[in-house]
Order: sequence, then C-alpha cells, then structure tokens
Amino acid sequence: MDKQAKIYVAGHRGLVGSAIVRRLLAEGHDNLLLVTSRELDLRNQAAVTDFFKREKPEYVFLAAAKVGGIEANNSFPAEFIHDNLMIQSNIIHNAYLSGTRRLLFLGSTCIYPRLAPQPLKEEYLLTGPLEPTNEPYAIAKIAGITMCRSYNRQFGTAFLAAMPTNLYGPNDNFDLEKSHVLPALIRKFHEAKDRNAEKVIVWGTGEPKREFLHVDDLADATLFLMNLPDDAYLSLLASHFSPALINIGAGEEVSIRELALLVKNVAGFAGELIFDRTKPDGTPRKLCDVTRIHDLGWRHRIGLEEGLRETYRWYVENMKTGA
Ligand SMILES: NC(=O)c1ccc[n+]([C@@H]2O[C@H](COP(=O)([O-])OP(=O)(O)OC[C@H]3O[C@@H](n4cnc5c(N)ncnc54)[C@H](OP(=O)(O)O)[C@@H]3O)[C@@H](O)[C@H]2O)c1
Repeated sequence: MDKQAKIYVAGHRGLVGSAIVRRLLAEGHDNLLLVTSRELDLRNQAAVTDFFKREKPEYVFLAAAKVGGIEANNSFPAEFIHDNLMIQSNIIHNAYLSGTRRLLFLGSTCIYPRLAPQPLKEEYLLTGPLEPTNEPYAIAKIAGITMCRSYNRQFGTAFLAAMPTNLYGPNDNFDLEKSHVLPALIRKFHEAKDRNAEKVIVWGTGEPKREFLHVDDLADATLFLMNLPDDAYLSLLASHFSPALINIGAGEEVSIRELALLVKNVAGFAGELIFDRTKPDGTPRKLCDVTRIHDLGWRHRIGLEEGLRETYRWYVENMKTGA
C-alpha cells in the first residue's frame, strides 16, 4: 500500500479498527477513510453502495462488526447474525463493484468447531459442530470467509479473511457484563485495590488455557498481510490453501490462574486470589496454529506482561469514571 493510497478502515473506533488506524498513521498513511456508524450504518445496503461508488477505496480493512461476549450473544442472537451478515455482505460486494484492490475481512477463532483438535489449524473450518452459544455470530463470520473466497474465484478479487485469537489493549470493553476475561480481570483487580478489598474471586478452577494477542501486534499483522508482495498474497487466496484464511495469534498460551496472577501483580493488588470452582470453566484450551503466518515471516512482538502493563496504564488513565 503506498502512502497516498485511499484506505477505508470500517469500524475505526473499535478495539481492532482503532489499532489499525494508529498503525497506519504511524506508517505515514494519510488518506484514510473513517466514518462512524452514525454517519454510515453499514447494514444499510443503499447507503453503503453510495459510499463505495463515491469514495472507491483502494484497500479495505473490515473491522466493523457486532461483537460481544457469551451474555450478549445469548441475548441477541438475531442481531448477531443479521447485523454481521448485512455489514460484511454490503462491504464485500461493494468493494468488488468499486474495484478495491485488497480487502482484509476480520473474523475470530469461534468459527472453528467446538471440539476441534488444538492448536486450531485453518483447515479445521467446517469440520464439526460449532459452540452453540455463539453459533449465529460464527455462522455469519463463516459466510464472510466463504464470500471472500467466492468473489476471488468468480470475479478475481483479492479478498483475504484473517482470524485473530483473543485480543486485548487500549479501547477494549471493560464493562463487566460484556467484557472478555482479560479486561474483566483488569477491572476487578483495579477496583479491589481501590476498595482495599481482601480478596478477588475468579470464576472456575483457573486451569483452562487461553491465548492472548496485543491489539497493536494484530494491527502490525494486518498491515504485514496487506503489504505482502503479490505472489505471497495471492498464494494465500489460491485454491491449494483451502479454506483461504489465515490465523493471527501469539501461538502461546497461559492458564487463567497465571493470567490472574499477572494482572494481580500489574494492578498492585495485595489481597487474596480465590477461584470459585463451582462456576464453569469453559473449554479447556483454545490456541491458534500460527504456522501459516510464521512461514510468511510474521511474529508477534509484545509479551503478555508488557502488554498488560501498558493496557492497565491505559485503563487507569481513560476509565477513571468507571465506564
Ligand atoms: N475483541 C477481540 O478479542 C477480537 C478477537 C478476534 C477477532 N475480533 C474481530 O475483530 C473485529 C472487530 O472487533 P472489535 O473488538 O474491534 O469490536 P468493537 O470494539 O466492538 O468495534 C466494532 C466497530 O464496528 C462498528 N460497527 C458496528 N456496527 C456497525 C454498523 N451497523 N455500522 C457501522 N459500523 C458498525 C462500530 O462503529 P462505531 O464505533 O462507529 O459505532 C465499532 O467501531 C470483529 O470482526 C471481531 O470478530 C475481535
């Protein structure tokens, strides 16, 4: 992508989109197209068609989506499948019509079967039943992956689907009802320290293992992919890579216990950490296989402790009102 190329980052105020924008600006890209959902509701087909006809972006980072944890997915399954199908269909179809050179569609590892072997390889897509709690979301994302591949096959577009592991970093959602485990722990330990609480209770045994990637590393990976030379980029879309998608992860995992101890330490909470073993653990392991992206020459750089310290600082500076 040259520095003047017109680049549309859909979802630029979210965790992922904001990190991609920070990175693009740092690299000297100054022709960014950024519109909020208020200015352009991406579910609105006519509005998205007008926008692409008018703007004709050369590159598209598709990081707009309806996103949430188990509770939100369970409560609003119709919105999760409808909004995501509409957003991604409108963008992918209009990117094709307006001649977008490359598009990166972001999904998540929940597209893989619930009982897939670990680590999760790209080829495990569609080899078994999905986790029922977020099936509508995962099916929308799988439709997006299949759209990218189908448009590439029929129309010769160059649309790539990338599946990041669990992400964290600035602009994350720290709302305890809606957040993922890592921001929830940051908030819990911080508030416990403020209250001089004696203990923090964490759900489950602490034994499940999870993988985390700092969102700045994800942004780095997305630019790396968009900037790949044609032969390497197109080889990712070629039929011998079935499905045409790529995992983005750290390839390393920590137990929830190790994670909780790290956050406790980073937040400076001196009290006790208690695991409530009566609460569910969820799946025992969830780790991405990152061989495909490692083979292209990309690796994450931000270690978990360093990333946690930086995210904790951001949280304290930006969430003083406890939003
Ligand atoms: N967070 C994670 O741990 C994680 C992990 C793996 C993959 N991902 C993937 O990364 C992508 C982005 O996730 P995120 O965590 O950055 O989500 P997020 O923080 O909730 O941001 C989502 C963005 O989408 C935009 N959006 C939602 N509905 C819209 C609509 N109808 N019209 C226009 N814009 C709309 C929002 O725009 P406004 O702010 O303007 O309303 C928002 O900025 C998703 O595809 C997700 O699957 C996330």
